[in-house]
Amino acid sequence: MADTVNDLEALHGAAVEAISAASTLEQLQEVRVAYLGAKGKITGLLKQLGKLPKEERPEAGQRINKVKAAVEIQLNERRDVLEIEASKPKNPSDFSLPGRRLATGSVHPLTQVTEDIVRSFRRLGFAVAAGPEIEDDYHCFDALNTPADHPARDTQDTFYLGTKDRQLLRTHTSSVQIRAMKDQEPPVRIVVPGRVYRRDSADATHNPTFNQIEGLYVDRGVTVGDLKGTVEFVFRELLGKEVKLRFRPHYFSYTEPSLEIDFSSPLTRKMGKEWLEIAGCGMVHPKVFENVGYDPEVWSGWAFGFGIERIAMIRYGINDIRLFYENDMRFLNQF
Ligand code: DAH
Repeated sequence: MADTVNDLEALHGAAVEAISAASTLEQLQEVRVAYLGAKGKITGLLKQLGKLPKEERPEAGQRINKVKAAVEIQLNERRDVLEIEASKPKNPSDFSLPGRRLATGSVHPLTQVTEDIVRSFRRLGFAVAAGPEIEDDYHCFDALNTPADHPARDTQDTFYLGTKDRQLLRTHTSSVQIRAMKDQEPPVRIVVPGRVYRRDSADATHNPTFNQIEGLYVDRGVTVGDLKGTVEFVFRELLGKEVKLRFRPHYFSYTEPSLEIDFSSPLTRKMGKEWLEIAGCGMVHPKVFENVGYDPEVWSGWAFGFGIERIAMIRYGINDIRLFYENDMRFLNQF
């Protein structure tokens, strides 16, 4: 027995060799049984401890158990390696195979329309500007020459946030005209797509929040002719060559003269109407220029604003604005 215990080193060495030679989990299991099983070599040594003289037992027991623990650890390490190997695909990946076809979704119709409008304006040299949806009285109304008793400021229409400084949710993107002109010297050529808020109750054509796009062009000698030409170019690109536009006199506090744009096309006829109101516009009011520090004797400009949902409804023949916000896949999948 003493000899066997002295041969422990050799036994351990043989076990390590057998473990690293095992190339499958099954072979490794055989090695485990051969050394640690009920009839295994290390188990056998432990069983024979009783035959040793009493004083030799503790030391011999310690040495055998140390080897046993080491062999267990090495068996487990090898098992981990073999398990990972077994779970790998047999053949290396073929990166030239076609990818898995996942449904990637599509761009929301309102985003599509916005991107198309912006693209047309970019071709004419316009840049995209943005401003905050939480505005104040000054940028949304005062600076746009909208007097305090103007119906547009009626609390029926505007969501006020109830803060001391009269913060509100902007009712139109026109507030960004003021911010843009205060931020830069003329000339200015911007479009501003963005969300606006009004206290409309939701029905088929109204929603308390919707999207507008604002345009502003300021330079020397800008005329109504530039306005008409630009708007016609963009609407033809967006809604087809057959588009006809009609400009009617209107009132906005921040433009003079002010105009409303009607448009007619095979699309409006499909909706049962020859002409549909589509935008407000006009020549920037001298008061507005004064409010932002532009000299109205030097600079002139035009501005317009229209609702993106309305354009999208005409373009796609949609009769209920709420469809845009419901995220119904049966609706969205059509775009
Ligand atoms: N802000 C107007 C609205 O919300 C639209 C509008 C009209 C914008 C005339 C303009 C403009 O810039 O010149 O109905």
